[in-house]
Amino acid sequence: MNILVTGANGQLGNEMRSVSRNSSDKYIFTDVMDIEGVQTTHLDITDIEAVRNIVKDNDIKCIINCAAYTNVDKAESDEAFCRVLNAKAPENLAVVMAEVDGLLVHVSTDYVFGADPYNVPCKEDQKGTPTGVYGKTKLEGEQAIIASGCKYIILRTAWLYSEFGKNFVKTMLNLTAEKPRLNVVFDQVGTPTYAYDLALVIFDILENRKYEGNNGIYHFSNEGVCSWYDFAKMIAEYAHNFGCDIQPCHSDEFLSPVKRPSFSVLDKTKIKETFGVIIPYWTDSLKRCIFNLKGECFSNE
Ligand SMILES: NC(=O)c1ccc[n+]([C@@H]2O[C@H](COP(=O)([O-])OP(=O)(O)OC[C@H]3O[C@@H](n4cnc5c(N)ncnc54)[C@H](OP(=O)(O)O)[C@@H]3O)[C@@H](O)[C@H]2O)c1
Repeated sequence: MNILVTGANGQLGNEMRSVSRNSSDKYIFTDVMDIEGVQTTHLDITDIEAVRNIVKDNDIKCIINCAAYTNVDKAESDEAFCRVLNAKAPENLAVVMAEVDGLLVHVSTDYVFGADPYNVPCKEDQKGTPTGVYGKTKLEGEQAIIASGCKYIILRTAWLYSEFGKNFVKTMLNLTAEKPRLNVVFDQVGTPTYAYDLALVIFDILENRKYEGNNGIYHFSNEGVCSWYDFAKMIAEYAHNFGCDIQPCHSDEFLSPVKRPSFSVLDKTKIKETFGVIIPYWTDSLKRCIFNLKGECFSNE
């Protein structure tokens, strides 16, 4: 099968490159921007004709959509473009996959929840209650995919980090190395996700053809629950950055254009039961990522 990956130069896209190296399928990696040293085919997913052409020219039977508008704060003042990328573009991919009876694997977010004060893990069929433009447009993207009639697997994930791109882990590695004191919010609770672990699950579902008859929405994060404060403490500990005094604080101490979910833990029962996925505990995955990053001197490109 020929598989097309969008947003291949982002965090998850790069991890898809790593995990699919020895696949029996053919992977084509696309993005809007080139990065040095990796092969990337240009594809802007907001352009449906471009999507149609690349799918036809390469006999694509599956798209993994790793592209998105991911700047949650900026989205509040850039709603129209955010909607194009997070709602219209996934619809483009779904329409084109429907035309060739192909499969769309789409990645969504825990930010589709949040307006209701949950205190139990969120299930797939729970009503979406986004608090901001990012979550709202991601939910619209999911709905457009479902309405398109294509075969789809939507994977909602949360608090994504990896060795690639910008993320909380890399920011905290730098800050806790440089600053004597840091305040981090403890009133937002969720679960970090190592993008490598998510990429492995997507790869397993495709490589072993587990998607057959399993259209639907699934939740995936690492195992466990923590606040951003706990997350920061573990990052500093694993990096041996003991010189920084990290203190818990409230979200309202930081100016932000958007209210983030206070509790967005994802219930992963469905993905475990359907695909036989074994999910690593969040601190074990964090340790692996920091070990891999140490060779890169904690750069934050
Ligand atoms: N990051 C998180 O904490 C998080 C949490 C939950 C869910 N998710 C979801 O997980 C998925 C992957 O996130 P990520 O963190 O890996 O994203 P990312 O690092 O921001 O990567 C997204 C990639 O998409 C590219 N892109 C932007 N516009 C495009 C277009 N028009 N056509 C094709 N590609 C385009 C970006 O290029 P440029 O960089 O040049 O714009 C970037 O390389 C997304 O669906 C996101 O919503 C992320």
